[in-house]
Amino acid sequence: MKSLKEGTGKGSDFLGWLNLPVEITSEQLADIEKTAAELRARTQVMVVIGIGGSYLGARAVIEALADSFHNYENTGMKVIFAGHNIGEDYYHELIHYLQNKEFGICVISKSGTTTEPAIAFRLLKELLEAKVGKEEAGKRIVAITDASKGALRTLADQEGYKTFVIPDNVGGRFSVLTPVGLLPIAVAGIDIEQLVAGAKKMEEVCATESLAENPAALYAATRNELYRSGKKIEILVNFQPKLHYFMEWWKQLYGESEGKDGKGIYPSSVDFSTDLHSMGQWIQQGERTIFETVVSVETPNHELHVPSDEENLDGLNFLAGKRVDEVNKMAELGTQLAHVDGGVPNMRVSVPVLNEYYLGQLIYFFEKACGISGYLLEVNPFNQPGVEAYKKNMYALLNKPGYEKESEAIQARLKK
Ligand code: PA5
Repeated sequence: MKSLKEGTGKGSDFLGWLNLPVEITSEQLADIEKTAAELRARTQVMVVIGIGGSYLGARAVIEALADSFHNYENTGMKVIFAGHNIGEDYYHELIHYLQNKEFGICVISKSGTTTEPAIAFRLLKELLEAKVGKEEAGKRIVAITDASKGALRTLADQEGYKTFVIPDNVGGRFSVLTPVGLLPIAVAGIDIEQLVAGAKKMEEVCATESLAENPAALYAATRNELYRSGKKIEILVNFQPKLHYFMEWWKQLYGESEGKDGKGIYPSSVDFSTDLHSMGQWIQQGERTIFETVVSVETPNHELHVPSDEENLDGLNFLAGKRVDEVNKMAELGTQLAHVDGGVPNMRVSVPVLNEYYLGQLIYFFEKACGISGYLLEVNPFNQPGVEAYKKNMYALLNKPGYEKESEAIQARLKK
């Protein structure tokens, strides 16, 4: 905690995320909201292009708060994602889908040189310009990138796109509370002021140096203690399918921050009760190297009761009249008891409801805990040198200029 606060630990030039909620100004939020409103006025679909930390935070919040079946189509806007894979069929289908839609592009890359989003941007920029002309396309494209470096910055300046800056001292996976996350979230019609207010509250709560009163420190200390006792895998659990992408965001945050120097808890996730019918067996009785952290939502936003049925063929009339969530909660408690009995330590992080404010709290809580946890593990939680290995090989295999030596070495290796 001290090293984070005083900036004396490894990677301390990437600690800008620590004070983002408190430091973000109302002018910055207003600029993001204004841009989002302008994009909504011109388009019905927004394609957010980015990979890793440049898309997972926005997707986590949007999927948690948007309608599961209509996204934000009811507010006249749908947000979809690209640039996080190189699937040719995905892009074929996306181009087909966008053909008759009024769409815009929010392209996000801190380095401005990442291959996956760059390919997606080439494809969709070409489509958009062919559909609406270069001038209108320029008004529907927003770029979020470095203040001065990288190909995306050069292109955005050249084409005159509206841009937002990713601060130098904030790494991709810690950037959801910068325009990287906030602009797409605002485009979806979600209240970013409430999101930041929740994060700000958690920043204040987690500022204390008292371990007992600091939830992020408690979580970080507990998971590290479990790791030392042989629990090598953490499973993040939800009982609300809308949290699926929140778990994906968390996996990147912890996986990239801690998995290095031959160390690190392996972060995995499950959606319950769905995955109780697929992974439940392993969790209950497989190798005892796991622990669980359940993200629990106390009250759903909507109320629904189990109907009564005259014939009662399924024998479920004992549930008639109960809220669907009561059944879900008993599944949650029953699972917790069973897993503890099965030797799976169980932690629980709970929020009263799923809304902007509490998601903001969860985001900051997990970020702060990740920083503390990485330092407890004695790694640099703010770099990701391992990500370069596949890129180097891919560039060599694709004969990228400058990779001639690597290319020769790989060809010789493949011939063996
Ligand atoms: O956390 C990180 O730094 C990474 O996951 C990056 O966000 C990801 O690799 C995308 O990089 P960029 O934004 O430079 O395109």
